[in-house]
Amino acid sequence: MNVLHVVGARPNFMKVAPVLHALQAYPTVAQALVHSGQHYDVNMSDVFFQQLSLPAPDVNLEVGSGSHTQQTAQIMARFEPVVLEHAPDVVLVYGDVNSTVAATLVCAKLGIRVGHVEAGLRSLDRTMPEEINRLVTDQLADILFTPSEDGNLNLAREGIASEKVHLVGNVMIDTLIRLLPLALHGWQGSVFDIQGVKVEQEKYVLVTLHRPSNVDDPIMLTEIIGAIEDIAKETQIIFPVHPRTRQRLAALGLASSTTNIRVVKPISYLDSLALQRHAALVITDSGGIQEETTFLGIPCLTVRQNTERPITVSLGTNQLVGRDMQRLRAISAQILAGETRSGQIPPLWDGKAGQRIADLVAAGC
Ligand code: UD1
Repeated sequence: MNVLHVVGARPNFMKVAPVLHALQAYPTVAQALVHSGQHYDVNMSDVFFQQLSLPAPDVNLEVGSGSHTQQTAQIMARFEPVVLEHAPDVVLVYGDVNSTVAATLVCAKLGIRVGHVEAGLRSLDRTMPEEINRLVTDQLADILFTPSEDGNLNLAREGIASEKVHLVGNVMIDTLIRLLPLALHGWQGSVFDIQGVKVEQEKYVLVTLHRPSNVDDPIMLTEIIGAIEDIAKETQIIFPVHPRTRQRLAALGLASSTTNIRVVKPISYLDSLALQRHAALVITDSGGIQEETTFLGIPCLTVRQNTERPITVSLGTNQLVGRDMQRLRAISAQILAGETRSGQIPPLWDGKAGQRIADLVAAGC
């Protein structure tokens, strides 16, 4: 069997790794890895390939950045000849980025089977680019691998036949379980050095922001930074800045560190796990970090009005603060004063999701 994996952006890389590694155990399966080049900076892509022990991509489409339409169209145009040449039995796509939907559209039009890893997640917010990608990808995919039961319910509601849907658990957590011990070696006793900034366990807040709804709106971004400056009066803030966010902060004159807010470059996967593990609190708008903090039992405040990962709120340690920065200040103060709530790890977030997917794919599901 001939399997082609398509990835493109940072959050895809930790999802493909467990599936690709598990499929290597099947002598009948040949695999190839296509990178769209949606993310191309060393610290957004290459570092992740190294730390995740991913093979170098067989093909890099080198599409780079652009508007959503341009980026999606470029990936489609450049992927079509690649997929025709490889003639895979199945193409596996990951998550909800533009590379995911672009590869899926190409395959659907060529009649090539698509498996979607991390299917069924819905924020029910169509202003979010990823929601469009999720809806289209799931309608077109032939095999849908869901991380949690809510994914199955969403797909059933959209009329997707249940035979196509497989509840397998969370591949992102497979990678976390595999690499957390290595990540924790980065701590020297209770101190961690992140790009020359020293932090102490449980005495810092980790902040990540990159959603267009937060960072592309100057008023919203200024309000968020105002709240973070207030939180920084109580504790040290580590703020690894995504390239999109860096551009927006620079335009507002907010791109540099202050005494208690330490702005650093995008961090590696291992540094991200290490810093999440011992944070007093994580403030984010990322999807993956909501899941990782839930698994790690670390309090997480998500600066969004909705989440496609509601299980992190119902079972985990995540709380949505929406666009209400007073709420962000108030709940942060409570958490930093020790008022945390405990969560549970969702079912099937057990390190074996990649193996389940590989077994199904190899069996020709
Ligand atoms: C993309 C995904 C988002 C995911 C995020 C993780 C879509 C629609 N969005 O958003 O779901 O959470 O990745 O990071 O696919 N840039 C660089 N270097 C890079 C990549 C990007 O400087 O290696 C800059 C470019 O100026 C680019 C901007 O970042 O215009 C945004 O990149 P883009 O790929 O469009 O989307 P992300 O915001 O990264």
